[in-house]
Amino acid sequence: MKFFIDTANLEQIKEAQDLGILDGVTTNPSLMAKEGISGKEAILNHYKTICEIADGDISAEVLSTTYEEMIKEGDELAAIHPNIVVKIPMIKDGIKALKYFSNKGIRTNCTLIFSAGQALLAAKAGANYVSPFLGRLDDISVDGMNLIEEIRIIFDNYMFDTEILAASIRSPMHIINCAKIGADVITSPLDSILNLLNHPLTDKGLAQFVADAKKLG
Ligand code: G3P
Repeated sequence: MKFFIDTANLEQIKEAQDLGILDGVTTNPSLMAKEGISGKEAILNHYKTICEIADGDISAEVLSTTYEEMIKEGDELAAIHPNIVVKIPMIKDGIKALKYFSNKGIRTNCTLIFSAGQALLAAKAGANYVSPFLGRLDDISVDGMNLIEEIRIIFDNYMFDTEILAASIRSPMHIINCAKIGADVITSPLDSILNLLNHPLTDKGLAQFVADAKKLG
């Protein structure tokens, strides 16, 4: 399973990259705004910097919602670096844009996926990744993990190459359950990834080893 970090924060991206387990980065307009990025040049520069810090696929989301604007914007984003994956929203014009980029050999991530039907359409249009939003489904009392399972079954039935990129991750349990189901990728805030490290018996065991190591001189 690939691990992406879901942030536009350069420090957190660096920290995850330094861990040695990072496979990519996902961003969205909200995450970019949170970092105070504003204006086209600043946005393009920020993506360039992310590509210099992190290895692997870097999802850069279009800000527009019409086919013509999305393909113009996506072409500009894709020109930044070969690792850029153009992130397109799950709307009718988005499907057309996914097909356009697929024909052109530009990689895409279809975002805001909340149903198996949406994932199927995105895969048919040639998306490289679909991003089902687990946490936001859980927030409205719908089990987001069921959606990951449904998409896994459908993609396996027809051997779609499209990868399931589980997004809107809120906890280490989301990551573990995605791994059990067979999501190809999780994209997560850094804290949920780091929380996978924690176990009280590890802390207790290490404290004992450190104490005993002192006895060994
Ligand atoms: O990047 C898309 C997704 O991961 C957003 O997550 O926490 O805003 O629901 P969240």
